[in-house]
Amino acid sequence: MIPVCTPLLGKKETKFVLDCLQTNWISSSGQYIKRFEEGFSRYCQRQYGVTTTNGTAALHLALTALEIGPGDEVIVPTFTIASVAFAAVYCGAKPVFVDVQQDTWNIDPTLIEQKITKKTRAIIVVHTYGHPCEMDPILKIARKHQLFVVEDAAEAHGAEYRGRKVGSFGDCSCFSFYGNKIITTGEGGMVLTDSPKLAQRCQRLKNLSFLESKRFWHEEVGFNYRMTNIQAALGAAQLETIDEMAKKRRQNAFRYNVLLSQIPGITLPVERQDVKNVYWMYGILVDRAFGMSRKNLMAALKEKGIETRTFFLPLNNQPVFKKLRCADSRRFPIAEDIAKRGLYLPSGSGLTRKEIEYICNCIGTLQRSR
Ligand SMILES: Cc1ncc(COP(=O)(O)O)c(C=O)c1O
Repeated sequence: MIPVCTPLLGKKETKFVLDCLQTNWISSSGQYIKRFEEGFSRYCQRQYGVTTTNGTAALHLALTALEIGPGDEVIVPTFTIASVAFAAVYCGAKPVFVDVQQDTWNIDPTLIEQKITKKTRAIIVVHTYGHPCEMDPILKIARKHQLFVVEDAAEAHGAEYRGRKVGSFGDCSCFSFYGNKIITTGEGGMVLTDSPKLAQRCQRLKNLSFLESKRFWHEEVGFNYRMTNIQAALGAAQLETIDEMAKKRRQNAFRYNVLLSQIPGITLPVERQDVKNVYWMYGILVDRAFGMSRKNLMAALKEKGIETRTFFLPLNNQPVFKKLRCADSRRFPIAEDIAKRGLYLPSGSGLTRKEIEYICNCIGTLQRSR
């Protein structure tokens, strides 16, 4: 089976992890934590990095550090992973859903202002599948309404908007290093910021809110969101390959684009002019003209040894948010449409040219057999 994604781990990863084991630095202190936090924040053009157990925890930590709480509203895209809306819920706030753009599948800035109320405190933007959000209009809206911006760049390590790395725009930005991400620590996450105050607050909150000056003394509720030195060791080694991994993802995407553009009925992912898309996942939409449903295409590809995944399901109407009275029964036409027609193809950095040719040949043959 050609998998959707597998991590690429090298000798450095083994060396650094072995170093943790051989020196007994296996818990959440140790040199690799600092090395990974400093290295990754520098790479993303930010001042401070705070490692966490995973990307969901990073989002929760960021919102907590920004003092988002009960009664507040947080604007989120409806087309994304549940973690984004859950983070608002963990803080006692209400996620307010916004539809996405037809081409980038990212939050549509032109739809944000109509969702802003007196209770709105923050906007979380997600750089979906590696394509940067339209940051300029989003930041303008945030400034006008005095809202925080939190970037979720879990899917977009190394992507750029107008020459600047994603993750360098918001008050905070959050990352995941889950096994399928462009660089991985197995499980893991990070919050980045330029504010020393926010960074210090995140460091404290993630460590049970221990006061540095008085151990076992707590002035507010904290969490255990500490990453281990072993995970950070993996991260530090992976960081050395990040540009290469992103480059591979882009090369894969360009190969797919050339071969799939010859097949009718498939909408390809875009790269807008002023951005660098890192194509974390190579997503396509199956159009009516393809002559076969998404479900049947996925089943046929599976038979040929090709793994695929469906797109996110819009969050706005999901049972959990209905129960929490956060559901929005208005239509979210773009998210609803792409959720029905979208799938992603094998996208890992280790995918070979031959595999891409095989996958595209299979899709072409299936289309012609209709
Ligand atoms: C956009 C986005 N945000 C957050 C997360 C959550 O990250 P984690 O699985 O590390 O909690 C993911 C996970 O895939 C994601 O894609």
